[in-house]
Amino acid sequence: MSKQELVFDADLIRRYDQPGPRYTSYPTAPHFHSGFDEAALIREMTASNVSARPLSLYFHLPFCEHLCFYCACTKIVTRHHEWGTPYVARLGREMALVRRHIDGERPVTQLHFGGGTPTFLRQTDMVALLEHIRHHFHLLPDDQGEYGIEIDPRALEPGTLALLRDFGFNRISLGVQDLDPEVQKAVHREQGEELTFAVLDEARGLGYRSSSLDLIYGLPLQTEDSFARTLERVLQWRPDRLSIFNYAHLPNRFQPQQRIRDADLPSPDAKLRILANSIDQLQAAGYVYIGMDHFALPDDELAIAQRDGTLYRNFQGYSTHAGADLLAFGMSAIAMVGPSYSQNRKELDAWGAAVDSGHLPVERGLRLSDEDLLRRHIITRLICDFALDFHRIAAQFAIDFPQHFAPILPRLQQMAGDGLLQMDARGLTVTPQGRLLIRHVCMAFDAYLDAKPVQYSRVI
Ligand SMILES: C[S@@+](CC[C@H](N)C(=O)[O-])C[C@H]1O[C@@H](n2cnc3c(N)ncnc32)[C@H](O)[C@@H]1O
Ligand code: SF4
Repeated sequence: MSKQELVFDADLIRRYDQPGPRYTSYPTAPHFHSGFDEAALIREMTASNVSARPLSLYFHLPFCEHLCFYCACTKIVTRHHEWGTPYVARLGREMALVRRHIDGERPVTQLHFGGGTPTFLRQTDMVALLEHIRHHFHLLPDDQGEYGIEIDPRALEPGTLALLRDFGFNRISLGVQDLDPEVQKAVHREQGEELTFAVLDEARGLGYRSSSLDLIYGLPLQTEDSFARTLERVLQWRPDRLSIFNYAHLPNRFQPQQRIRDADLPSPDAKLRILANSIDQLQAAGYVYIGMDHFALPDDELAIAQRDGTLYRNFQGYSTHAGADLLAFGMSAIAMVGPSYSQNRKELDAWGAAVDSGHLPVERGLRLSDEDLLRRHIITRLICDFALDFHRIAAQFAIDFPQHFAPILPRLQQMAGDGLLQMDARGLTVTPQGRLLIRHVCMAFDAYLDAKPVQYSRVI
C-alpha cells in the first residue's frame, strides 16, 4: 500500500475527532515561558555557530489591507501602506542585532516571508528589505535554497513577482480559500478567479519552481457542491501543492470571526462530506497526501522527500531542509535555534520599542529538555513518515522504547485495535484510515497536553 494513500473513514473520524495541536512545534507555543529571555537566546545563538548548521530565515510581515472574517493569523489591518517603511527599517535593525551573535557565513538554505500579507509592502520597501537580508546573510546562488513567499493575489504590485524571483525566491503560496462568490462575500474576501490564476501563470512564466494554493473547507455558505466546484476549477490549474485547511472557528479567540453567522456554517456532517469528496477529487487528479492538510503532485519535491523518508516539518510547514537553525524576524515571529524556541513580542509597538532600544525582542521561549527532544523527534517523524521505527529511536536516544513509553502503550494499542495504526515490537505504521487523525497519534506522545488547558481547533 502506498505510503501516501489516504482512506476516509467517517466513523473513525467521528470517534476520534477532538481538539488538538497542529504540532508546528513541540512543545507547542502555549508552553513557552517568559523565563526564556534575550540572554538565553543569545546563549543559544552563540552555541549554534559551532555547529555551522545552515540557516533558515523567517520574516513576519503582518499588514493586510482588508480583513478576512475567518482569519486566525497574526496581522494588522490597515490601508496605510507607508507603515511598511518603518517596519522594514526595524527588521533591518533586528537583523543587525541578531548578526552580532550569528556567524553570517552560514548558508541560508531556507527563507520564508509570511504574514499577514508580505506583498502589502510597497515595492520600495520590499527592495529595502531584500537589501537588508542580502547585506546580513549569505544567500545561496542558483536556486539551491528553498525561498518562498505567501501571496494574496489582491495585493500584488506589477513587477513584484519578477523582483522576488530575481532575488532568488522560487516558491509561492497563494491565499484563495474558496472561489464561490457567495462564500467569498460571507467571509469578506472577494477575489476574482481570473486574478488568482493570472498570478499563478505569471509565477510559472517567471520560473518559480513550486506553486501552492490555500483553500479552507468549513467556511460559511459552503456546500458539498460549491466546494467541489471550487476544487475542480483549482485542479484544472494543477498547482504543485494544495493546502486544504479545516476552518478553525474560535470566535472567542479571533474576534472578527464573530462576524460569521453560526447558522451559515456547514454542519459537522456536511464538513466531513466536503472533506471526503475533496480527498476523492484530489486523489483522482493524481495528488498525494503529504499530511496535515497538505497535498502535492507526486513529482513535487515534498512528495519525493516523503517517499524517501527525508521530509521535515517546522513552523513554515513541510520542507526538505532539516537541520537548520531558524532565525525569525518581525512581531510575533518564532525562532528555533539549537534546542530552543523563542517568540518575539507579539505587539507591533512592543516589538519595535525593543528593537529600537538595541535589544532582541524576545517575549518568551523554551529550552528543550532531552525528553522534549526525544518526543519532538517522534512527533516530527510521525507527521512526516506516518511511521515510527522503535529500534532506530531507541538507538538514537539511548532508551528502551517499550519501557520508556510503557504508560502510553495501552493508548497506542487501543488505536491499533480501532484501525488507526498497526504496531508490533519493531514499530508502528499509521494506516491510510488513520492518517487524517495523525494529530491524535502525536497527542499520545505529548507530555504537556494535560499540563495546561489550551483552546485548540478540532482535528477535522
Ligand atoms: C497568512 S495567510 C496567507 C497569505 C495572505 N495573507 C492571504 O490571505 O492570501 C495564511 C493562510 O492561513 C489560512 N487561514 C487563515 N485563517 C484560518 C482559519 N481560521 N482556519 C483555517 N485556515 C486559516 C488561510 O488559508 C490563509 O491563506
Ligand atoms: S487571510 Fe491573509 S489577507 Fe486575510 S486577513 Fe488573514 S492574513 Fe490578511
